[in-house]
Amino acid sequence: MKMDKKNIDWKNLGFGYMQTDYRYVSNFKEGKWDEGTLTTDANVVINECAGVLQYAQTIFEGLKAYTTKDGKIVTFRPDLNAQRMVDSANRLEMPPFPAERFLDAVAKTVKANSAFVPPYGSGASLYIRPYMFGANPVIGVKPADEYQFRVFTTPVGPYFKGGVKPLTLRVSDFDRAAPCGTGHIKAGLNYAMSMHAIVDAHKEGYDENLYLDAATRTKVEETGGANFIFITKDKKVVTPKSNSILPSITRRSLLQVAKDYLGLEAEEREVYLDELQDFAECGLCGTAAVISPVGKIVDHGKEICFPSGMEAMGEVTKQLYNTLTGIQMGTIEAPKDWIYVI
Ligand code: PLP
Ligand code: COI
Repeated sequence: MKMDKKNIDWKNLGFGYMQTDYRYVSNFKEGKWDEGTLTTDANVVINECAGVLQYAQTIFEGLKAYTTKDGKIVTFRPDLNAQRMVDSANRLEMPPFPAERFLDAVAKTVKANSAFVPPYGSGASLYIRPYMFGANPVIGVKPADEYQFRVFTTPVGPYFKGGVKPLTLRVSDFDRAAPCGTGHIKAGLNYAMSMHAIVDAHKEGYDENLYLDAATRTKVEETGGANFIFITKDKKVVTPKSNSILPSITRRSLLQVAKDYLGLEAEEREVYLDELQDFAECGLCGTAAVISPVGKIVDHGKEICFPSGMEAMGEVTKQLYNTLTGIQMGTIEAPKDWIYVI
């Protein structure tokens, strides 16, 4: 089915919400998920006492659909998003939405909104947001009995304004995740707690917060919406290892890209705040962030300036970026099972 594209200024899209034509909905009641359907109704109607409204029982995912050079619409490793959502559901005592149904729901929603998938070369993509929440009234602290799983889409451009201009971060005094908490899952509560920190960071002129490990405050964790990658002076890729950060699909993919496509050494290990000054390049990676270069990190007045500078992406970061986006847009051959054609 070939659909005419919507009349959208694709090149100037930011990272925002634009209502598209269809979304997917499935309800969990009396112990089972219903068969699910596409709907045009963008509004969710729930009881005032719904579990999600009282105790934040909600989880989500984020992935993108791209138009490849030869005109196909594809998603990137959606099976890993499906599995991560199962893991998130289990941690919050929610009934997992089966992985194969997740893949089907994503494909159906993207297909129905194909007129909103930005064209190849526009620099934009269709962001896909699967999510689920406790829907029935819950007043004592306990899991809901009824849930809703939904998927909506929105066309997006770069997550950070200014596109590829290197970012300035600050080391946050707030913690994001406790050692045995929920940092490793994609739950709304992890983002609610970051609102004050990000508003305050912006007020102070920073683009994002670097969160430290809560137990010792000596190790680098992640930012509010992306993982870190660092490049050493001898061109090794290093990324923080921690049980309390989100296992980024972009980061896991980049480790493989670094080794298999670029012939670089790549290592997941604990990264200490006091070794940041030794790295040559720094970037934030994630579905929304793709790879956004970081030029400077400020630790309570002490500036850590990466040699790659404040004007452009570092050399190795750029190679990683070009290879990853080439795989996603179909100009570089992908590893087996990374690309799902819609
Ligand atoms: N860390 C956080 C806190 C995020 O919200 C995200 C976005 O999903 C990521 C990291 C990057 O994960 P992924 O590469 O799977 O999008
Ligand atoms: C994503 O990259 O998909 C995320 O969920 C990050 C969010 C801050 C937009």
